[in-house]
Formats: sequence, C-alpha cells, structure tokens
Amino acid sequence: MKKVLIVILLALSVPCFAQHDPYMGIVPAPVSVKKGNGEFKLTAETIILADSPNHKAVRFFTEYLRKAGFSNTVTDLNQLAKGNKEMKNSITLSVNTKSDLPAEGYQLHVYDDHVVLNGKGAGLFYGMQTLIQLLQIKNNNLITIPCTNIKDYPRFGYRGMHLDVSRHFFDVDFVKKYIDVMAMYKLNTFHWHLTDDQGWRIEIKKYPKLTEIGSKRAQTKINRAGIDLELYDNTPYEGFYTQDQIREIVNYATDRFITIVPEIELPGHSMAAVASYPELSCDPKKTYKVAETWGEFKDVYCPTEETFKMMDDILFEVMLLFPGKYIHIGGDECNKTAWKNSDFCKQLIADKNLKDEEGLQSYFIRRIEQYVNSQGHSIIGWDEILEGGLAPNATVMSWRGEAGGIKAAQQNHDVIMTPGSAGMYFDHTQLKSPLEPLSIGGNAPLSKTYSYDPVPAELNKDEQKHIIGVQANLWTEYIPTPAKAEYMLLPRMLALAEVAWSPLANKDFKNFSESRIPHQLPRLDAAGYNYRVPTAIGASDTVLTGSKFNIELTTPVEGATIYYTLDGYNPRETDLKYTAPLQITVPDKMTVDFKTIVITPSGKRSVVTDMKLQNK
Ligand code: ACM
Repeated sequence: MKKVLIVILLALSVPCFAQHDPYMGIVPAPVSVKKGNGEFKLTAETIILADSPNHKAVRFFTEYLRKAGFSNTVTDLNQLAKGNKEMKNSITLSVNTKSDLPAEGYQLHVYDDHVVLNGKGAGLFYGMQTLIQLLQIKNNNLITIPCTNIKDYPRFGYRGMHLDVSRHFFDVDFVKKYIDVMAMYKLNTFHWHLTDDQGWRIEIKKYPKLTEIGSKRAQTKINRAGIDLELYDNTPYEGFYTQDQIREIVNYATDRFITIVPEIELPGHSMAAVASYPELSCDPKKTYKVAETWGEFKDVYCPTEETFKMMDDILFEVMLLFPGKYIHIGGDECNKTAWKNSDFCKQLIADKNLKDEEGLQSYFIRRIEQYVNSQGHSIIGWDEILEGGLAPNATVMSWRGEAGGIKAAQQNHDVIMTPGSAGMYFDHTQLKSPLEPLSIGGNAPLSKTYSYDPVPAELNKDEQKHIIGVQANLWTEYIPTPAKAEYMLLPRMLALAEVAWSPLANKDFKNFSESRIPHQLPRLDAAGYNYRVPTAIGASDTVLTGSKFNIELTTPVEGATIYYTLDGYNPRETDLKYTAPLQITVPDKMTVDFKTIVITPSGKRSVVTDMKLQNK
C-alpha cells in the first residue's frame, strides 16, 4: 500500500519578531534606528514633562496612557529650574528641535532612566506615535519601552488615504476610526469622496434637495455590475453628514494632524445631484433618479451659467467647512454624450472657440478652478483634467497608471500618484483566490502595494519635485459594511504608509511582511480593527513537483496558529497544528493537498491555501 510519510523535523522556538528586526517593529520604517540595551519602565510615578503642555500630541499621549490605566499628568517644563530638565523616570515631550530636522520630523531617545522626544508640530505627534508603537503594556502598573535612538521624517509631504462614502455610506464613528488608523501610521491626508452618482452625502444649506433627494436611492445592486445577472436588494438606502458632523470630523482629524480633502465630483458622476436638481442637466425635462448600480452614466452637469452659479454656491459652503488648501473637484469619467446631443453645448463650444467636448470639459474645470482660487483654495482633479488642457493651478491625481502624472509634472503641475495598476486601489482583491470576498476585480496583494515607488524614473530631478505624494483609494461599490472596509484597508494601508513615509533605501518587503506586519496586526486587534489575515508565510496556492517536500512556515500574525490538513478538507481549529518544519514524502503517481489556515487569538481567519504536492 502506498503511504504518505510525514516527518516533523524539529521543534524550533517561536521567533520573537521585533527583537531581530532592525526597525524594532515600527511601521512605517523610520529613517534611522539605533537599538540600545535595556528598557525604560513607565510606571505611575513617571513624570511627563512638556515645554508645550497643550500641544495636541501631548494631550493625545496622556489620553492614550489614561485609556491604558495610567493617570500620569503633565508637568510644564518651563516651570522647572534648569537643572531639573532631564529628570530620572521622566518622559520629556519637547517642541525644541535641532534646526536640521526636516518638516514633520522628530528625534526620540529612550534611555533606561528617561525618555526624550523632540519634534515640532506634526513631528511631535509622529514621534509620539512611534513611542506608542514601541511600548509594551505589561499590566496596569507597568509599561516598558526598549532603549533606542530614532531620527525620522517623511519622504513625501502628501500621504493620502481615500474613502468613498457615496457608493456606501459610513457613519461619523467609522470615519473617526478610519482617521485613527491613518494617524497611527503617519498618514496625513484624508480624501473624502462625498458625492457621486449613487448618493450625495454632504448637507448644503442653500440646496437642501441635494440631501433630501440626492442622499437616497431606492435599492442597490448586490452583485458584480455588468457581469452577473441583474440582482438588486430591493432595499432603500440613505445617509449623509450634517454640516455640524462635518465640522466635528474636521476637528477630530486636525487633532491628529490629518487634513481632509473633500471631493465634490463634477462634471460627471453627478446623477445624485441631477436627480435632486434636473436643471443642472442638459435635458431638465427628463426624470432622473439616484443611481442604483455602478459604472459611468450619461447624465452629467450641463455647463450653463445656472450650473456654474450653483457649483460656486456649493463650493462656497464646502470651503467654509474644510480649512485645508485643497478641494478635489473630481473630473474623471465624464461621459460626453449629453453634451454632444445638446444644442447649447454645441453653441458654447463655438462661442468659446473650443476644439470639442474635451475642450468643454477643460473649460468647465477652469471655471471651477477660478472660483476655488478666488476663495484662497486650490483644486485637485483626477488625471482626466489633462484632457483638453490643464487648468493653470491644478494638482493632478494620477489614477489611470502614471502617464497622466508624468505629463502633468512635465507641465510643472503638482502630482499625487495613485495608480490603480500599481496596488493603490484597495477595492482590488488581496489574493487571486475564489475564497477572497467579492471585489471590483484587479489584484493588489500587499507585495504590489509595498513595492510601488511614486517617483517615475522618466522625470528629471526638477520634474520629480512635483510628485508631492502618494495615495491609496477605497472605492466602496462592493464594500457595504465597516468590517469589509477594514478588511480591504488592512494591512495594505501599512504598506502605503511605508511607500509614503520611508526612505527607499529602508524598504525591505521580507522584513516588512515577515517581521513588522506580524508585530503590528495584534496591535490592530487590540485597537478593535478588522483586517485581512495574511496566509501562512511559506504557503500558497501552487503546485509543487517531487517526491520529498520540505515545508517550512511562519505565522503572519504574532501569536496566531497555523492549522493544516493532508486529507483534502479545509483545515480548521480541530486539525493539526503546525509547530515545526515538516518533511512530506509523496509516493509515485500521487498528489497530496497540503492545506493551511491561520487563525489569530482573536478568532480572525485567513483564507485557506492549497499546496498540491505532486509526485508525477
Ligand atoms: C476613479 O477611480 N474613477 C478615479
């Protein structure tokens, strides 16, 4: 009888991830980390000193400690005599920095008897986030922090994460939670996609129908648009943010050094607005409804004076709510059919000496830019705003690959890179496996997101300076719940953070995925986030050929267990635990399915991988 032989080779001790990691588990990898010996012990007696006690970072840190059971209060450093300024058993948070520290930078020294963190503005906040990542809460009386000397600052000034709240609405608490996780990993710009065909989500006082009508749709497509059978949920859907709620979120983000870029889509992706005010369209007599499925629609704004007046009014209210420099005006995927069929548009093209409908789109964006600039703000648009000519001061968000970004930088325009083809679209799947949840398509595994470099080699040094940053996008057509949003976001957002923050020379996917991600994921558990559990390191859906197979796996989450089967069934908690490397001998002409699953202490599960061990 043919037998499959399994030998468990040797029991290795469980690796302690952060101990051997040059970056001490920190994400994004800092510019420079020097590990010391020993550790600082934070106790109830530890004194917290600050030369700017009301700094947002100081308040954030004491609040963090309070939630961990420590009620240490802050002593104003300016009130102390000079000799007392580096006290034993103290943590000093100081805005006093060396002049060569770049913007948003910090320096952190952890000695065994005291800690000093220096950073101005956001720098102090980021240093404090690093400090929080380093600390280990042992119990209610003790936190330890390993000795180290870190100097750090970001590669890019714009480090963005986007959220589409039109296709599916996410409430105030979720948006705050989203901002929290961005802040943990030193992202600084939240691109809030507030309007689209399927829902208008921001209260505009002057045009109440935008939310009375535009924030509601009769039902929602529940399977893949354009591919599967038409299937709708037959359930009304609605949601919007009041201006008070928007102000609350803006303040919340500001406290975490995050600027919000609101997006008001125009001239396309505007069905919800057109359904509310049909006079915005080129055919006002038609009846419009808020879209119930996904894609590109023909009903777009008509470039009339009435439309421009209304857009200016809307943007006026938006700019009062959002103090940041940028207003995103969309500009992508504007279907030109309605314009082509409109006598008004034909006449306007002739009157304004425009080439065609693309020229008309450019005219539309320029008009909007003029108004936004006149109010002291700048526009960002998706790369379609290049078509027909760029508005003079526009920043371009390059999503259809890098070509638009390259072209814009060559025209001396600022650029934010967010190419869907390079792992920046988090609505794409994280593994090509039928076990992954429904997504819009495309494949953006962690490794792809991580390996992206936003500065194209085609650009010369001066042009490269126009690449002001990078962003990932979370479109939510197929993301109806907060848990799924977090699943699609994490851990990829940590890879984005490293792309946006860390020097290229410090990027190392093996270290990131096998050491720091496993260290960070339990922290996300503790903070209450859902995430995609990566599959066991060393396991994949693949076919291997031979007769003897050496299988060596590691867990992608500290403390998680890998279970496996050889019987073709999907593994679960009741199956064999992987504890040490295996040697599996497969008889002639047989194939063995070696299947694995990772289950975390919090009960989160990876998808199952199936390694076919084939002896031909
Ligand atoms: C986009 O993904 N339509 C910008």
